[in-house]
Amino acid sequence: MVFFSNQFDAKDKTVVVTGGSQGLGAELAKQLIIRGAAKVIIVARTESKLQETVNYIEPFKISDSQVIDYATGDLANYDTCAKIVESLDTIDIVFFCAGSSVPKLFLDLTPRELSNGVNINYNTALNFSHAALSKMKLQSPDHTRHFIFCSSVLAIYPFIGYAQYAPLKAALRSLADIIRHETLPYNIKVHTVYPGNFASEGFAEEEKTKPEITKQIEGPSNAVSVESCTNNVLWFLDRGYETIFTDVIGWILSCSMLGFSPKCLGLVQIILGFILSLIVPFYVIFTNFEIKSYFKKLNSQKQP
Ligand SMILES: NC(=O)c1ccc[n+]([C@@H]2O[C@H](COP(=O)([O-])OP(=O)(O)OC[C@H]3O[C@@H](n4cnc5c(N)ncnc54)[C@H](OP(=O)(O)O)[C@@H]3O)[C@@H](O)[C@H]2O)c1
Repeated sequence: MVFFSNQFDAKDKTVVVTGGSQGLGAELAKQLIIRGAAKVIIVARTESKLQETVNYIEPFKISDSQVIDYATGDLANYDTCAKIVESLDTIDIVFFCAGSSVPKLFLDLTPRELSNGVNINYNTALNFSHAALSKMKLQSPDHTRHFIFCSSVLAIYPFIGYAQYAPLKAALRSLADIIRHETLPYNIKVHTVYPGNFASEGFAEEEKTKPEITKQIEGPSNAVSVESCTNNVLWFLDRGYETIFTDVIGWILSCSMLGFSPKCLGLVQIILGFILSLIVPFYVIFTNFEIKSYFKKLNSQKQP
């Protein structure tokens, strides 16, 4: 597939970007306008941020007929999704970017943070994909349409600090795999992106509560810029990939759980997967040691 470079055509298309008021969603919306999309609608809960982003993207229009607009609403609510979908004549491409994480130790999370994790990271994509597909199945254009789910590399390697987030990103992988089956009759291609860290507004928020042990396991992997992450996503979409990583480490980790999802350089992944299966048990012993030491230190600090 790598030899074909026109597999993702946004020109003259209607695109919806959930979570499009900032970070990856906002940058994707801008790039799609630059690529000639007829209409880009960004969706989020905070109207002021949406307005600001629309104003920011407006000058990037390449023709006066293009539209950059927004819709406000909490996509964890199905009726909100249905209303937004109803307001659109057609949908060709949906990027499911709404999501956010509150990295904390599991027992430090509040019940509200736990349910927000499910709502923001899973229910937004579940509801909007259902509502959008209900409309898209009634239309049968001759071009390929696209659903692009934004998961996380944490769906592949979940670790301490991400209990409120990683399981929902893993659920998105499963949802995307199922929807890929159901969209086969409708000429809709389903992609799943597994980004590593990138320096969005959301990422800056995460850093504020991230436990030391989570940072330690994450290692020195610096967050790439939002622009670089967006370019990587579009590069892989252009070449027809259904499974997309935004950095090499994510791709390497993915070799440890290949499953039934589409592959990305599958043959190499199988070989790497075998090598990883020999290394991972030793890595787990090392990580468990690090976690025990962290809790020991934490407890000793708490004692008077
Ligand atoms: N940044 C990273 O390092 C990283 C790494 C891996 C994966 N990801 C994933 O990549 C995606 C984009 O990340 P990002 O860092 O660019 O995100 P971000 O800066 O946190 O922005 C999240 C967007 O989602 C919107 N949103 C949140 N809850 C919503 C809801 N219930 N209904 C509608 N909109 C909602 C937010 O606006 P409102 O708050 O106004 O609604 C905002 O526009 C997310 O799914 C994230 O989980 C990020």
